[in-house]
Amino acid sequence: MSTAPAPAPASTKRRVLTGDTPTGRLHLGHFVGSLENRLRLQDQYDCYFLLANMHAFTTRADKPAEIRQDTIEIVKDWLAAGIDPARSTIVLQTEVPAIAELTWFFAMLLPFNKVMRNPTLKTEIDAKGLGDTYSFGFPMYAVGQCADILAFRPDLVPVGEDQEAHIEMCRDVALKFNQLYCGVGNRVPPEEHEQAGGVFPVPKALIGRIGRLPGIDGKQKMSKSLGNAIMLSDAPKEVQKKIGKITTGRQSPTEPGDTSNILFTFVRAFIHDQARIAELERRYAAGDNLGDGHIKQELAERINELLEPMRQRRAEFEKPGGDDHVIDIIRAGTKRANQVAEETLHLAKKAMKLDFGRRTLG
Ligand code: TRP
Repeated sequence: MSTAPAPAPASTKRRVLTGDTPTGRLHLGHFVGSLENRLRLQDQYDCYFLLANMHAFTTRADKPAEIRQDTIEIVKDWLAAGIDPARSTIVLQTEVPAIAELTWFFAMLLPFNKVMRNPTLKTEIDAKGLGDTYSFGFPMYAVGQCADILAFRPDLVPVGEDQEAHIEMCRDVALKFNQLYCGVGNRVPPEEHEQAGGVFPVPKALIGRIGRLPGIDGKQKMSKSLGNAIMLSDAPKEVQKKIGKITTGRQSPTEPGDTSNILFTFVRAFIHDQARIAELERRYAAGDNLGDGHIKQELAERINELLEPMRQRRAEFEKPGGDDHVIDIIRAGTKRANQVAEETLHLAKKAMKLDFGRRTLG
């Protein structure tokens, strides 16, 4: 009889996976698009938050040092926002070999032209001015993202609106894999694939309260590289200054205003008192002596209230040794994540008749 202790029971909670490409610090668009949902899901789900550092190399292969630092910064933003490493698992993509391996297999399940028509990739090629000079690895990241997700067999993927096309591709991969290798019939609805013997649940995107937050320029989506972003780590004065830059074209507080403008998009995103929003909208539309400046002041206060606890938590990680602490958190999370991802790879390989021996990671 074995006297070895029973292994700790695996979490019985369903899983969530999402991630960010480390391109710098996070901004309010990230917060309302996905971060806010992640915080809420931490209790109900077994959550995995992925640092997609491999993806950062698709456009910045010449900047390894920057990518490393951006990876650490993003974790600081997560922790500052309230991601709790005691409840959720922080995962470093480049230390999860199963993701790279699944990417290869999944690449065979997607028609090349379908990947190249992915609207999110197209938008990015335009926005970043990549022309036709981008690397082979650039469109490849969309296939890799399917593996990021499916390696964890999650039910839900909380993302901003811009990621929907990627999640749709991921669902295609899960369906195709289950049909090809697990004998799941063509007519089985996505939500029944697992019961029908599929290795992969067909995950759903969970889009944030505000799918696409515009930048303070009111034109493009909020993005650090476009210089129109309010960062989660901005100082109170900085927030005030940036909100002050929002322009509505309105001449005076008695001019009836258009409540579908950029200023009111922010009001509805960051003022939570519904009665107050209704009052502001009513008075603005009526030209009832309500100046843009007053609204901006109130808006900046609400945003600063949201960000203040984040600034305080971030300060802890900005002390000497902060980066090392972050790296420890990344290591511990990634170790845990590999248990799930290795199990997934094993199940997938078995379904593909590739079960020639099961490896263990050291
Ligand atoms: N492509 C995503 C972004 O740019 C980041 C990402 C990588 C991701 N892998 C993921 C998001 C898996 C959700 C799930 O925001």
